[in-house]
Amino acid sequence: MHFQWYPGHMTKAKRMMSENIKLIDLVIELVDARIPLSSRNPDIDKLAQNKSRIILLNKYDLADDSKNKEWKNYFEHKDFFVELVNSKSGQGIKAISSMIQRACKEKIERDRSRGILNRPVRAMIAGIPNVGKSTFINSFAGRACTKTGNKPGVTKGKQWIRINKQVELLDTPGILWPRFEDQIVGLRLALIGSIKAELLQHIDLCLEFIQFMNDHYEGLLERTYGVPSEKDTVGMLTAVAEVRHCKKTGGEPDLDKAAILILDDYRDGKIGKITLETPSAADE
Ligand code: G4P
Repeated sequence: MHFQWYPGHMTKAKRMMSENIKLIDLVIELVDARIPLSSRNPDIDKLAQNKSRIILLNKYDLADDSKNKEWKNYFEHKDFFVELVNSKSGQGIKAISSMIQRACKEKIERDRSRGILNRPVRAMIAGIPNVGKSTFINSFAGRACTKTGNKPGVTKGKQWIRINKQVELLDTPGILWPRFEDQIVGLRLALIGSIKAELLQHIDLCLEFIQFMNDHYEGLLERTYGVPSEKDTVGMLTAVAEVRHCKKTGGEPDLDKAAILILDDYRDGKIGKITLETPSAADE
């Protein structure tokens, strides 16, 4: 799904989030494990202040294992509860219920000291478009879930999904905008396919990707496509066009087609598990 964000949309999203946040104890924020910073909303820390927080590094199946560990540490050091999740296959999902209890320990103890027993933790899923919110909700709620419907006087108009006795989830996720005004963020979002590149930009985008691969995953493109080592990015793109028979009618290499092929392969995980940003760069 592609979202075009305008100031009006952002104000509306912020208002929705501010309204919903009053109803919940915990924000479960989804980010894309390939770009954990670029896929965060710039205002979420402010919007979710005073709430318990969990960050899920979703799509970890597409990201670099060693970088996944680094990112988990990075967010844990910032006092988030963190889990690596593959919402599509369900990996990492089982651990979430107990993590929610740990993240909301203070609230649960406060309830208990006031004599309130067994009040479920109320949680909301939040994140930018395409990080996997709907897939996660389906996976986490599973088939056993029941919608609890409106609760008069308390949560008018809201639908809650009862996960188990301890957790209820707001059924509509908080959809927030990315930090798209930053060019590097925009580039990374386009590389993972979260923002659509303009038709003519596929080649430029792919050349950036090839350069990144040369710098950080040397030899991987060569091994994937069976092409000789090539430092020049246009040379590499041309080599891939040739081995994959991407040709224009006149017979010359069709670089646009080859660029789309490489980018699609990357997004589908066919080139390997590749993370585009590291915590060390984040601290700079
Ligand atoms: P959203 O609600 O945040 O907008 O995201 P949504 O759940 O629609 O997921 C966006 C895309 O990401 C979907 O792919 C979904 O299958 C995929 N996805 C979600 N979680 C994971 C994950 O952990 N790993 C991987 N590899 N993919 C994930 P799609 O191409 O739009 O649809 P589909 O063809 O997969 O159904």
